[in-house]
Order: sequence, then structure tokens, then C-alpha cells
Amino acid sequence: GKGGYDHYMLKEIYEQPTALRQTIRGRTDPLKQRVDLEELPPGTFSGIESVHLVAMGTSYHAAMYAQSLLTDRGINAQAYLSGEYGSNPPPVDDRTLVVAVSQSGETADTLSAIRAIQGTGARTLALTNVVGSTVTRECENTVYIRAGPEIGVAATKSFSSQVATLILLCERLSHATNGATPRSTSDLFDSLAVLPDDVQQILDESEAQAVASAYHDCESYFFLGRGVGHAVALEGALKFKEITYDHAEGFSAAELKHGPLALVTEDTPVFAVFTGRDDTKTVHNVKEVRARNAPVVAVTDGNHTGATEYADHVLSIPDTHRDVAGILANVQLQLVSYLAADMLSRSIDKPRNLAKSVTVE
Ligand code: F6R
Repeated sequence: GKGGYDHYMLKEIYEQPTALRQTIRGRTDPLKQRVDLEELPPGTFSGIESVHLVAMGTSYHAAMYAQSLLTDRGINAQAYLSGEYGSNPPPVDDRTLVVAVSQSGETADTLSAIRAIQGTGARTLALTNVVGSTVTRECENTVYIRAGPEIGVAATKSFSSQVATLILLCERLSHATNGATPRSTSDLFDSLAVLPDDVQQILDESEAQAVASAYHDCESYFFLGRGVGHAVALEGALKFKEITYDHAEGFSAAELKHGPLALVTEDTPVFAVFTGRDDTKTVHNVKEVRARNAPVVAVTDGNHTGATEYADHVLSIPDTHRDVAGILANVQLQLVSYLAADMLSRSIDKPRNLAKSVTVE
């Protein structure tokens, strides 16, 4: 059941500290600064030179997040919409790892992307929540995100656990492909260890209620960020449109001046996600939307001068490693979407026209 919550979505948002503990448990060795993904035998990634991540919807945003992390580690990586990948597969060979990211493991687009590269020698890995799901049978290897069952159509805890698992996978890949290249990971491991507590702190102290109250009657919303914040901006907008039925659009803050700015008015709240990459540039973007009188909500740890100065509202996240900051920022945006949809009396757990698992292309 819903365990006292009004909706499964809210229950699952509040389950995130527990889900993340399950995701991370036993998978890091803080003393050796090593990742231990027991499902993957030694040598799984030997010879891998590039990574393709295929997924749809929220899982695609987790894939984009991982693309940013891998690129940062000097690994060629590209996230693809699996529905596009299956129709028009890019060149792959035995040095390519194709990672299928799917909560359900049953998404038809993602299964057909994997089938499209079968026989090419490309290596395949499933990253899923559901034990024994179809994607685990189509891929050579599987890593489980261990988020526990997700009932609400809107994916919440599965995104957090996907990203946490992908952070571990990126570390493992980085180790396998960069060999002994020293890279300081202690901050990252420390941040992962306290991630469940940091999410709990947001759940306990979030200012999302005030933000949802102030803005739930607007008709259009924009979400922007850079790096992993770009993925979080897209995810924030997807969640918002799915359950409020209002227009919401996410984009890279870098794109603002190249089109979206034309739509920014005093009636379009702008959510700016700060995750520690080029925050100065994003502050500049915030100033640009403020000049058009748009209300600004900054999602930030507050350490960056300017991020809070130009905002009408601040959704605070605890100070953490920048690879992890996006998970925390996304939890704040989940709460805003949920609370706004609830104020609008929407069908939160079963939004119109949507199904939990999309098994046709
Ligand atoms: C959004 C949502 C969908 C799914 C997408 C992929 O809240 O739930 O966008 O993320 O249909 O589903 P999976 O991850 O099961 O492959």
C-alpha cells in the first residue's frame, strides 16, 4: 500500500534515502577507493574504448548524466534515445560498450536498440531495477540499481538509484580504461557515503512547498543547467509536465540565448540548476531571464556567489561532490512537481495517457 502517503509518488520520493542505501551498500571500498560491482567479473571492461548509453524518458536523463561523468573522466561516451538508436544504429565494434538503462527492463525501444547491435561484437550491459526482466536476458551482463519496486508512473527513486549506480559504473570503467592514472576519488566516495543522509535533509527541510504555492498557476515553466545539471533540467521538466499537464521545457543553459529566451516572460518561472560546473555562466543566464522579469528559482548549495543573489526562491542542497549534486538537485525538483500537481488536483500516480512500462515502439 501507500504506507500513509497520499500517493505512491510521494512515498517513493520519501523512500529515496533507503533506496540509495540499498543501491550503494557493499559496492564501494572506501579504504581502497575502489568500486566493487559484484555482478561484473574482473575484465568485463577490458578493451572498451567508448560507451553508448541507450534509454528513454527518465532513464535517458540518467544516461545523459552518465555521459557527462564519463566524458569528464576522459572516456568517449554518448547517450542516445533508444528509439532513435534502434532505427539508425551508429557504428560499433568489440571496443564499444552499449549500456541499456531501463527501470522496468521491458521498454520496447530500449530492447530493440540492443537487438539492433547484436552480432556486431559490441559488448552489452543492462542497468535495471527489475530482476529477470527482458533486458537482462538480451544483454551479456546486468547491474541492478536495487531501488525496490516503483509503482508511481512518474519515475522518482529509480532515477536517483540509476544515477548512483552509474556513478559507480563510471568509476569502475574509469579504472578499467585509464589503468593506473591517479585520480582523487576520496571526495566522491565520501559524498556517496552521505548521499542518503543528504537526501533525507532535503526531504526534511525543503522549501518546495513555497515554490509550488507561488507558481503552480503559471502555464509554462523552464528548467536550465549545465553538465549533469543539463540532464537534471530535462528530468525536472519531464516530471513537471507529466504530472501537472502544464508546459515545461528543459534545456542546457548554454542554449538559452539561441532560442528559448524568446519565450521567457514574467509568467514563465525559470528553475536554474547549479551543480558546480560553469556556475558563473549559469548565473549570467539567470541575470538574462531576470531582465525579462521571469521569476527565478535557484537550486544550489549556495556556495556560489550570485546563484542565490538573483533568485526569487532558493531550493538548497547540501554541499557535496559535483558528480552527486545533480541527484540532490533533482530531489528538490521532484518535490516541486509533486506539490504543484497536488495543488492542481492531478491524477499523480496515473497521469493521463501514460503507462508505467511502454512495451510497444
Ligand atoms: C517518466 C517515466 C518514463 C520512463 C520511460 C523509460 O517519469 O517514467 O519516461 O522513464 O518510459 O522506462 P524504463 O526506465 O522502464 O525503460
